[in-house]
Amino acid sequence: MTLIRKVVFPVAGLGTRMLPATKVLPKEMLPVVDKPIIQYAVEEAAAAGCETFIFVTGRGKTIIEDHFDRAVELFEALAAKGKDDVLGGLSSDVPKPGTVIATRQQEARGLGHAVWCARQLIGDEPFGVMLVDDLIHAETPCMAQMARAHAETGGNLVAVMEVPQEHTARYGIVDPGREDGPLVEVKGLVEKPAPEAAPSRYAVIGRYILDSAVFGHLDRHEVGAGGEIQLTDAMEKLIGSQPFFGYRFAGRRFDCGDKLGYLEAIVATALARPDLGADFAAVLDQYR
Ligand code: UTP
Repeated sequence: MTLIRKVVFPVAGLGTRMLPATKVLPKEMLPVVDKPIIQYAVEEAAAAGCETFIFVTGRGKTIIEDHFDRAVELFEALAAKGKDDVLGGLSSDVPKPGTVIATRQQEARGLGHAVWCARQLIGDEPFGVMLVDDLIHAETPCMAQMARAHAETGGNLVAVMEVPQEHTARYGIVDPGREDGPLVEVKGLVEKPAPEAAPSRYAVIGRYILDSAVFGHLDRHEVGAGGEIQLTDAMEKLIGSQPFFGYRFAGRRFDCGDKLGYLEAIVATALARPDLGADFAAVLDQYR
């Protein structure tokens, strides 16, 4: 596996689709069963070999950093009560000291701008970007699948999945070239095309391994669709000068930034849990 030592988690968005739940609580902290969404993403990054977790946060998001800290009073109370199993689980969830870095995106100017805010922390090496909203169930975690593929391709690799034609306007869509197993050559990227204008049904979802050359394009702060600085626009400029592939990952993705997707993620995650699945299935049966 190539080492993707650093992963950026852009978490400065406003989360308007999940209001009013996200008025005070960052959407990344909404629980899926008993873990905040962001914890699934951090665990996935760790499984891919990530050593430095970079959160690009915004105002009102400091509890994300708190979540990955030791909760001293709680830990002491659990120890005093002899709840060692709970304490053990919580302690192992806390990343090693010095591996979590937070920086601020002072204004929510778009995903491209959020990634650019991490440029000094990345330097000159390939890095991952994970959109926490995208929760992925997979036997081998999606970022680990991608890190393995990236060891072969180098350059840039984005996770893609086929979406229904009528949904292309919700995603960045790949103009595909040659296909080789899970790899799809990317000849172009189109942000949110209408179904009739979409070059394929391959949608880019929230997992990327990028060459640091992308910062050279993000530096220009070009404003794109929706008046935001788009990551897609900067990635597009790398096509042709560097390898650029889509990766059809094995697994199932849930969009937790959307109400229905979030509910589905909770149901699927609970059903897949050995400690809850059977009982929860019985509960669900009552609603059929
Ligand atoms: P979304 O498009 O989901 O936007 O951003 P959002 O603000 O989070 O949510 P809605 O659409 O208003 O409900 C995709 C990802 O990019 C991050 C978000 O946190 C999310 O992970 N993002 C977006 C930033 O970090 N900064 C931005 O300026 C915009």
